[in-house]
Amino acid sequence: MDFLSILRKKRDGLPLTKEELCFFANGAADGSIPLYQLSAMLMAMYLNGLDARETADLTLAMAHSGDMADLSGIDGVKGDKHSTGGVGDKTTLIVAPVAAACGVKMAKMSGRGLGHTGGTIDKLESIPGFQTSLSREKFISVVNETGLCVVGASGDLCPADKELYALRDVTETVSSIPLIASSIMSKKLAGGADCIVLDVKCGSGAFMKTEAEARKLAAAMVEIGKRAGRRVAAVLTNMDLPLGCAVGNAVEVQEAVAVLNGKGPDDLRTVALTLASTLLVLCGKGTKEACEAMAREALDSGKAKQAFERMVEAQGGDADYIRDQERLPKAKVSYTLQAPQTGYITVMDAEAIGRVCVLLGAGRHTKEDAIDPAAGILLLKKTGDFVKSGEPLATLLCEDEALLKEAERAFLAALRFSDTPPELIPLILGTVE
Ligand code: URA
Repeated sequence: MDFLSILRKKRDGLPLTKEELCFFANGAADGSIPLYQLSAMLMAMYLNGLDARETADLTLAMAHSGDMADLSGIDGVKGDKHSTGGVGDKTTLIVAPVAAACGVKMAKMSGRGLGHTGGTIDKLESIPGFQTSLSREKFISVVNETGLCVVGASGDLCPADKELYALRDVTETVSSIPLIASSIMSKKLAGGADCIVLDVKCGSGAFMKTEAEARKLAAAMVEIGKRAGRRVAAVLTNMDLPLGCAVGNAVEVQEAVAVLNGKGPDDLRTVALTLASTLLVLCGKGTKEACEAMAREALDSGKAKQAFERMVEAQGGDADYIRDQERLPKAKVSYTLQAPQTGYITVMDAEAIGRVCVLLGAGRHTKEDAIDPAAGILLLKKTGDFVKSGEPLATLLCEDEALLKEAERAFLAALRFSDTPPELIPLILGTVE
């Protein structure tokens, strides 16, 4: 096939065939198409778009450009969950054990923190001994034994996406809905699950800043799932402010375990239960109402907490750290900062808060950076709260006192105050099925 003629077609706004999209994805994966031609194609796709059929064909071609996870050794319906990325988003640590406690097999590949957003693998690694890299056999046996296993992506998963994502990053072509949808869904399809619930975040801390954009992305991903023969639903959730009160790694594990213990912040419990029950419906566990009740029962009875502990033990982690939260890594420096003025908090910019966390050591500036598992922020007040000048606002956790000055300045710059309460955006903005 001649790639220049394919490139010309997309440049002129014509749809590409399945074979042409396969040629493009395979050429990206094996390096046979030069980077300048791949970049030109990405820009043509960005400008002229891809229709639903092309988006699904591109996604499948990217998924098949490398290893496809074989989950046939796992009995029962296999579920997965994906978030488009947020701040304080520790819902996987709750959704996966709730679903497992309800009989879904959660064979999950997760990522590390990216930019201002955290990653499940970094969070789990704050539990001493926890292994996120397992052989395929061990992965399958942990899922069969405990109902869930969460590992980092391994092997040659979606090499086309690796190459194209890196190119999009440097050619200003990231923010295209078909390209984002195909990038995310290619990895989910390669992950092998039958049923996938997507948490599409929307707001200042998310990729999608507006509800309209988030809805389009959700619809594109659900459509890809349908065309690929998987059951997929998306929940749109608010990421204008961090989810829960803990942002970091060990502190987020602590907060997720609090929810598994029937405590923890309401917003986190609500989002986690909504995602879990949506996944249970996809997995054929019953009606929406029955699945909501089932998810709540799994949480309130302690069955989800037990499933989480079994997973931690099976993956080499010390479950005593989960039972006795005081034992999780503790920060050397803990500094509580105060409200600079009296009033309602009207804005708590989630992306800016995520960046403060990176500054404190909870995230990476470069791919090679080590992270500090104990670093992070505990929010004592959030958007909508009334505070008096001098009242405690948040606790900053880190290893080195020298980080505090800049972190405090950046944290306060992320907030706005007013004499009148703000209009709050709903936590759950809708569902796309
Ligand atoms: N996450 C991905 O995996 N791909 C994108 O394009 C954007 C977010």
